[in-house]
This record gives sequence, structure tokens and C-alpha cells, in this order.
Amino acid sequence: MPMVIAIDGPAASGKGTLARRLAAHYGLPHLDTGLLYRAVALTLIDAGIPLDDEAAAARAATGLIADRLADPRLRERAMGEAASRVSGIPAVRAALLAWQQRFAGTPDGAVLDGRDIGTVICPDARVKLFITASAEERARRRHRELEGRGEAASLAAILADIQARDARDASRSAAPLKAAADAVVLDTTELDADEAFAAARAVVDRVRTQ
Ligand code: DC
Repeated sequence: MPMVIAIDGPAASGKGTLARRLAAHYGLPHLDTGLLYRAVALTLIDAGIPLDDEAAAARAATGLIADRLADPRLRERAMGEAASRVSGIPAVRAALLAWQQRFAGTPDGAVLDGRDIGTVICPDARVKLFITASAEERARRRHRELEGRGEAASLAAILADIQARDARDASRSAAPLKAAADAVVLDTTELDADEAFAAARAVVDRVRTQ
């Protein structure tokens, strides 16, 4: 049976790193689904179209090509906020649904990380993890990451960003951020990346041997 691993969680929870490591460990393809929403936002920004133009956003989502996902600008801080805005548009989510499900349908399975993977995209995933951490700890991690990339920002500004994104992602009516009823919740506030990886692997291994 294909091993689909669904990983959800709020901004800067460490789910991306964890997803990449799990994918490498189990030899599965990995899709960071946040990049899809970031790419839709970037397409609009590059064309000078406002982010609340729903028809244009839906067209950008429908026409999205994989090449776009490698653009380094997608990782910039402002793009997370822009992605969060376009991700509330139901037609954008609908257009990206098939894309993600196709990816998840590869024969051996796949690892997908995002906000609605366990609830909407892959409700039948064998493993569902919901990765979380306190907003303060997530802000500290994001601050370190941005500093490492030479993108300056104050810790207070990053915390405010994270709280605004949490509120928007959790309150939208289309596929809001929430743990699936059958997800294992992993709070990584007190865990480093290796400890979080070990805890996640233990969950996957338990399922694999069932
Ligand atoms: O994971 P990320 O920070 O790259 O995601 C950017 C935004 O995209 C996030 O704030 C909400 C949206 N998103 C979503 O709505 N559903 C997903 N599966 C992934 C991301």
C-alpha cells in the first residue's frame, strides 16, 4: 500500500524540514504545498495584479507549472504573507487540489506538507502528523533562518507576522488550518530538529509495521 505521509501545521512550525527529512529517510518524493500558493502569489505580483483579484488568481493557479516552484523569491518573507492571502480564495484551492492529489498518487507514496493535507488533500493518508510549536518559539526559529539568509527583520515583527498568518489561515472558510481528527499532534516547542525527526519517525514506523 502506498505510504502517503501528510504533514500539517502553522507557519514556521518546522514541518518543512521534517517533511524533507522524512522523505529522504523513506525514499519518497516530497511536495512543499506552501510553494504552490507562494507561486500563485508571485505570478500575480510579477504581473502587477492585486492579490485579491480572484479570477486572475484562479487562472494563475490553473496554469501553474512545476518550473515556477524553483524560484528563490518564493522563500522570501513577504511571499508567505502574500500566499496566505491568495490561499483563502476557494477557486485557487480548487485548482491546486488535483495537482496535489496527482503528486500524492505516485505508486510508492509521497510526503506532502501544508495546512490541509490530512483534512482535504489526502484524507486517506496512512500517516498524518500535525506539527506545532508556540508562536514565540516559531518566531525565534524563523528569525534565525532569515538571519542565516541575510534577510534582516526584527523578532517582534516576525512574531506579529506569524500571529497574523495563524489567525488568517485558521479562520478562513475554505479548508482552514486544523489538525485532522486522526492526526498525531507533535508539539516541537521543547524539541530540537533531531528530536522532532525521531518522534515523527517513530509514528511512521509504528504505522508501517501494522
Ligand atoms: O507553508 P508556507 O508558509 O509556505 O505557506 C504559505 C501560505 O500558503 C500559508 O500561510 C497558507 C497557504 N497554504 C495553504 O493554505 N494550504 C497549504 N496546504 C499550504 C499553504
